[in-house]
Amino acid sequence: AGTRTFTMIKPDAVEKGHIGGILNMITEGGFRIVAMKLTQLTVADAQQFYAIHKERPFFGELVEFMTRGPIVAAILEKDNAVDDFRTLIGATNPAEAAEGTIRKKYATSIGENAVHGSDSDENAAIEGAFHFAGREQF
Ligand code: CMP
Repeated sequence: AGTRTFTMIKPDAVEKGHIGGILNMITEGGFRIVAMKLTQLTVADAQQFYAIHKERPFFGELVEFMTRGPIVAAILEKDNAVDDFRTLIGATNPAEAAEGTIRKKYATSIGENAVHGSDSDENAAIEGAFHFAGREQF
């Protein structure tokens, strides 16, 4: 049982062969995988997914990065999933990420930061539904 969050293993981490290492940290962290797939965002997908950032100076760079190769999209379940997952992934800027976090180990920069984690229960539900039909969620 528990609450849900949504994650993506971003193109930088997939390119470098870190899918397995990141999934291991996620499951060792006590998260259950509810849904998961290897997929690639279109430009329209990324623009919609990151619409909240569309006025930011890095928006174009973010869309280009997130569409440049495959990602792993997943829904995760745990008590306090959104907050506990943000703790597990660490700060957006890997230079500020705590020891033992996914970004400390695998991220290279603020932009190429290896993983996404939803910032609220509401966004977790929206982001999960963006990628997965109900029958794909276990
Ligand atoms: P995330 O927090 O998962 O979602 C928004 C993303 O925007 C963030 O990860 C970074 O990948 C990206 N981002 C945030 N700030 C910057 C920045 N200053 N320059 C480039 N990308 C950024």
